[in-house]
Amino acid sequence: VAAKYAWMTDVHLNFINELELASLVKRINLSEVDGVLIGGDIAEAESIGHYMRDLASGLSCPVYFVLGNHDYYKGSIADVRQEMAQLHGDIDSLHWLPAAKVIELTSNTALLGHGGWGDGQFGDFVNSTIMLNDYILIRELAAMRQGKLLNKLRALGEEAAVHVRATLPEAVANYDHIIFLTHVPPFREACVYEGKISDDNWLPHFSCKAVGDALREIMGAHPHCKLTVLCGHTHGSGSVNILPNLRVLTGGATYGEPAMQQPLLSVV
Ligand SMILES: [Fe+2]
Ligand SMILES: [Fe+2]
Repeated sequence: VAAKYAWMTDVHLNFINELELASLVKRINLSEVDGVLIGGDIAEAESIGHYMRDLASGLSCPVYFVLGNHDYYKGSIADVRQEMAQLHGDIDSLHWLPAAKVIELTSNTALLGHGGWGDGQFGDFVNSTIMLNDYILIRELAAMRQGKLLNKLRALGEEAAVHVRATLPEAVANYDHIIFLTHVPPFREACVYEGKISDDNWLPHFSCKAVGDALREIMGAHPHCKLTVLCGHTHGSGSVNILPNLRVLTGGATYGEPAMQQPLLSVV
C-alpha cells in the first residue's frame, strides 16, 4: 500500500500572520497527503502549543513532529517538552515522536524521531565565535560558562541518541524502511548551507554527532533495512548517502515562507 507524506521543517510559524497560516493549512489539505511530518523550529516556547492545536484542528491528516531549538526560545526545555507530551496525549491526530516511539506508516515502513541537539562534538566548539540565541533565550542554557555549556549540549545530544538506541533496533527488526525525523543534522556531511558543508566555526552548533553515531552503528549492522533521515536546522537543502542503506535529506527553509519540501514523500 503506497502512502504520501508531506515533510516540512523550520516553518517558524511565528513569522507569518493568520491568513498565511490558513493558506498553508489549505495547501497541505489540497495535497491530500496521509500525514504531515514537521522537523522542528515550528515556533517559540510561548506559542508552539497554540500553533500545534491550530494545525491539528485545521489539517485533515495526522501531524508527526519533533522540536527544534527555536521551539524552546523564551522558555525552558523541560516545560515545552512537558507541554508537548500533554498535547500528544490529549489530541489523537498529534504525534510528538519522542513520546510516540515507533509509528507504523505502512506495513513496510515505520516512522520515529527526536529533535536532537547541536551537541558541540563536530568542528571546533572551544574556538567557535558563534553565539547562538539558544545560549541566551533558553532557560537551561542561559548565562553558562563555555565548559559547562559544552557539557550541557553534549548531554542533550546524548539524550537524543539514547532515544535512537531505544527505538531504532525494534523498528529495524520489524520494517524494511525506517524514516527518522529530526531537527539537527546528525552528520557533518548533512550539515549544509548554500550547498556547502558548514565549517568548524558553525559545525558544533549545527550537527548532532551523538545521534549520527547511533544511527550509523545500528544501520551498519542491518544492511537489508533502509533508513531515511529527514533533518533541517541549517535552512539549506541537501542530500547525502552516509551508508548504502542510510540516506540523509536536509530541508531548505526561508523565514516567513513555510513550505512543504518537494517532492512529497512516497512511502510503500
Ligand atoms: Fe530554523
Ligand atoms: Fe534550528
